[in-house]
Amino acid sequence: MSDAVDEKDRAAGGPRSMLLLSGPNLAALGRRQPEVYGTATLGEHVDAARRQAAQLGYELDHLQSNHEGDLIDAVQAATGKLQATTGDRAGSGDRAGSGDRAGSGDRAGSANGGGQVPDAIIVNAGALTHTSWALHDALASFAGVVVELHLSNPAAREPFRHTSVLAPVVDGAIAGFGGLGYPLAVVAAHRLLEARVLGASGDDRRAGGPQ
Ligand code: DQA
Repeated sequence: MSDAVDEKDRAAGGPRSMLLLSGPNLAALGRRQPEVYGTATLGEHVDAARRQAAQLGYELDHLQSNHEGDLIDAVQAATGKLQATTGDRAGSGDRAGSGDRAGSGDRAGSANGGGQVPDAIIVNAGALTHTSWALHDALASFAGVVVELHLSNPAAREPFRHTSVLAPVVDGAIAGFGGLGYPLAVVAAHRLLEARVLGASGDDRRAGGPQ
């Protein structure tokens, strides 16, 4: 982490945080189609993500649910906490020039129920990736960084997996690297946040990433 980001953290007065969301059937990793998804459990992937996050100075919360609404509730809670600390910056899907970057403001998260204020969401939505416009809409309102994550490479699999309805509202996607994707997603989210904090122009998820 750069000194500039350390400064920002100190000024903000709280730990930086990421939220990892795991969708349907991911709790079965380890025994679910190991030829596709590998033999590691979800807990092992979460541990790897958490270790990487800690190295970069973040706490990482995790939620797995087989229920779409639980994931939407978690995104809405994260959105509310971030808005409470930074002002209402991104109430629509339009990322262009929406003001403050994630990472500014009071990180203590005292408003909106307390708890950590996620600067980034990493989401492996499982099959909801291909179907859930409701999760798409929830993520569209989250002003922080969003990284889509998959163990497998859905583009190389059955046709129904080729479309991600989340893709228009994420900053980027990591897919096909198996468990390595979890720490990679953390690094990607961190680098994007760092670029924002350091004043990269624009806040548009569809515009390029860090230089
Ligand atoms: C997955 C890919 C999805 O198509 C699938 O429905 C999953 C897992 C992956 O991590 O590769 O449940 O998200």
